[in-house]
Amino acid sequence: MAEIRSIGVVGGGQMGSGIAQLAAVNGFEVWLHDADSTALSNAHESISSRIQSIVSKGHLTKEKGAEALRNLRCTSNLEDFRSVDIVIEAIVESEEVKKKLFVRLDNIVKGSAILASNTSSISITRLASATSRPGQVIGMHFMNPPPVMKLVEIIRGASTSDDTFNATKFLAERLGKKIICSQDFSGFIVNRILMPMINEAFHALYTGVATKEDIDAGMKFGTNHPMGPLELADHIGLDVCLSIMKVLYAGLGDSKYAPCPLLVQYVDAGRLGRKKGIGVYQYS
Ligand code: CAA
Ligand code: NAD
Repeated sequence: MAEIRSIGVVGGGQMGSGIAQLAAVNGFEVWLHDADSTALSNAHESISSRIQSIVSKGHLTKEKGAEALRNLRCTSNLEDFRSVDIVIEAIVESEEVKKKLFVRLDNIVKGSAILASNTSSISITRLASATSRPGQVIGMHFMNPPPVMKLVEIIRGASTSDDTFNATKFLAERLGKKIICSQDFSGFIVNRILMPMINEAFHALYTGVATKEDIDAGMKFGTNHPMGPLELADHIGLDVCLSIMKVLYAGLGDSKYAPCPLLVQYVDAGRLGRKKGIGVYQYS
């Protein structure tokens, strides 16, 4: 099993920036790329300020914080990924866009490199089939926020090799995560269960069962969830929630997975959640 030292992360949004931070703090050389230069510089800024905050809280020494920042390189040129041992893709939740990126990465990275996707729901087997290395393609699904949440869900595609699986599992363990393994079916384990709950919370709001505050308080205080489902949808991003529901609906073929019309309408209105300042709730 080849040792992973250098990690390429594509996508500097909520997930990619969190994964890059986690890897840099744990001593890996990290290349971070985003197609949008503003998103890339925002990612660099937010990672730097989070690392400074971890240092100021005493969770990391000043030296380790400085080392983590030195480990991180942001690049607008994907060609810089030539020598990485693994790429973790965390771009938009679209099969078409992800496949295009996988084709590009397949042509750039060295032959031994692993291509991992942080997809929430999309078939790893289909992403793998866009490349010339399906045995080296795998799902490595972090939870949001990646530096804080304890889980990584690993998804083997139909052709994923044992070597790829073992190297990915070892990497997730070195990042301090608990690992679960899922078969390659839409939504895997976590989102197969979580997203229908969030969608149902939208139905409860849509049909006037209760206010958003009472729906969230019901689940937060009634079932000890850290956030209510509508607050959690804002945290995840309503666009991401909608994309996942569409994948569940198309992939599992049951009308129970049809996205709630209110969720669709909020996304149409640009109410994408915390990242846009407005979703179910308004953030100032
Ligand atoms: N990045 C890095 N660190 C973060 C962070 C972020 N975006 N947000 C919060 N933190 C850190 C804080 O710095 C703080 O660290 P310290 O304890 O060292 O001080 C810690 O997390 C707690 O933060 P806060 O005190 O600000 O807030 P909190 O106690 O309410 O915790 C939370 C925030 C961890 C997000 C918590 O509310 C929570 O666990 N919510 C549920 C999150 C969840 O369910 N995530 C999974 C979503 S599903 C998914 O990710 C899969 C998918 O495909 C959609
Ligand atoms: P996001 O919208 O915050 O960030 C996506 C980033 O990808 C943006 O900065 C965008 O500029 C960039 N991007 C888009 N297309 C690109 C391309 N072709 N090349 C390079 N960069 C590109 O999204 P996110 O919430 O970080 O989600 C990213 C992925 O992680 C999705 O697949 C999502 O399903 C998955 N995921 C999300 C969460 C969550 O809670 N948001 C949790 C687990 C997994």
